[in-house]
Amino acid sequence: MSPASGIGSPRQSLHGQWSSRLAFILAVTGSAVGLGNVWRFPYIVGDNGGGAFVLVYLACVLAIGLPLMMSEILVGRRGRRNPVMAMSLLAQEEGSSRHWGLVGLMGVLAGFIILSFYSVIAGWSVAYVFASGAGRFSGADAAQVGSLFEGLTSSWATIGFWHTLFMVMTVMVVARGVEKGLERAVRILVPALVGIMLILLIYAITSGGFGDGVRFLFQPDFSQLSGASVLVALGQAFFTLSLGMGAIMAYGAYLPEGTSIGSTAITVVIADTAIAILAGLVIFPIVFANGLETAQGPGLIFLTLPLAFGNMTGGLVFGTLFFILLTFAAWTSAIGLIEPAVAWMVERLKLTRAQAAVSAGGVIWLLGFATVFSFNLLADVQFGAGTIFDNADYLTNNLMLPLGGLFITLFAGWVLSARVTRDELALAGEGRYRLWRFLTRWVAPLAVVAVFLNAIGLLRLT
Ligand code: PHE
Repeated sequence: MSPASGIGSPRQSLHGQWSSRLAFILAVTGSAVGLGNVWRFPYIVGDNGGGAFVLVYLACVLAIGLPLMMSEILVGRRGRRNPVMAMSLLAQEEGSSRHWGLVGLMGVLAGFIILSFYSVIAGWSVAYVFASGAGRFSGADAAQVGSLFEGLTSSWATIGFWHTLFMVMTVMVVARGVEKGLERAVRILVPALVGIMLILLIYAITSGGFGDGVRFLFQPDFSQLSGASVLVALGQAFFTLSLGMGAIMAYGAYLPEGTSIGSTAITVVIADTAIAILAGLVIFPIVFANGLETAQGPGLIFLTLPLAFGNMTGGLVFGTLFFILLTFAAWTSAIGLIEPAVAWMVERLKLTRAQAAVSAGGVIWLLGFATVFSFNLLADVQFGAGTIFDNADYLTNNLMLPLGGLFITLFAGWVLSARVTRDELALAGEGRYRLWRFLTRWVAPLAVVAVFLNAIGLLRLT
């Protein structure tokens, strides 16, 4: 990021600003596109029965995710501070309670927990770079791919090592500031990732399972949809768009005045959703062509993609490149997960960025071992949603993010005055502003509450 240059802006960020609107779009896209699209989307679609779930997910993205992304950006840019201080400052300016800052604090906590398991999964991706490069996928069948995955996850030392490496990579970038390198990386990375996924798509189309895969993804069977899965779909919408925990808000704090929030949010939402659907179109045909189960859990992409790479021309190169790109995509998301905490520690506790990054990263790294052990030593420790990892994932994605999102949307819709939000969003046309405000004040909050009530059985939507 270039040094602060927001001449004439009401407030300036301590951390400088993105050099352009494109830089901001790239940074937010980098945060949004990650394991959520390629790893988590197919795996939870598989676990939740396909088409009907996908439909609910898409509805959540449009009706809740898009307006909420605009709200997060506007709150960040208006406050020009980390999410905790931005929300408490803006609340006080509106004559409301400074305790709104607690929403930001919950986001910081959610980011810690999410990154603790996110880093472990990203570590698997790093491990698969080497597995692919060493030709371990070549000609492999489902059984061999299964034992490769088992062999990796059953060793806590191995996945602990890759998790450690990934955390070190993340802390290194964050310590130096959200900067040029990130912008440039995303500019190459996202198109390259899409490129390899398109090659995979060709493979999927010719795999013999394409029709079944498409049907699974797009033919809604509402008998497969439980109240619990509606909440999971909502949680996935938040997770994949990096919403509900302040990541986008923190990035918004570095956005120059005068860049359009609406079109930025739309661009990111479309790109993110398209990549998730593309991942689904690649994975499920492979699942059906090989007679695998759709509900494989978190191992799904690691059990399917190597089959594709192992049995296509150029698979060694494409496979290695794919997992390199996936690791990069996870990296740019990890930076978003830790940024609210780091910005808060710098602005509030007056630490340097390096000190903040290292201490936050250290805590997250340690926490990550709970997930590392969930796949081996502590695999039998099951409660609530399943293993310790499953519970961390459930707690953050299905409870903390939707709850954080609910509060942020209420904040933007009811606490902030129309004067402030209209001015900050500067949408072309009053009609669009009215639509945003209606979605923000009514549709998004009521939908989140309804989904929560439905999930605990107090309301019957499904
Ligand atoms: N959106 C990221 C992904 O899909 C994960 C993420 C969540 C990043 C929250 C930042 C904040 O992989």
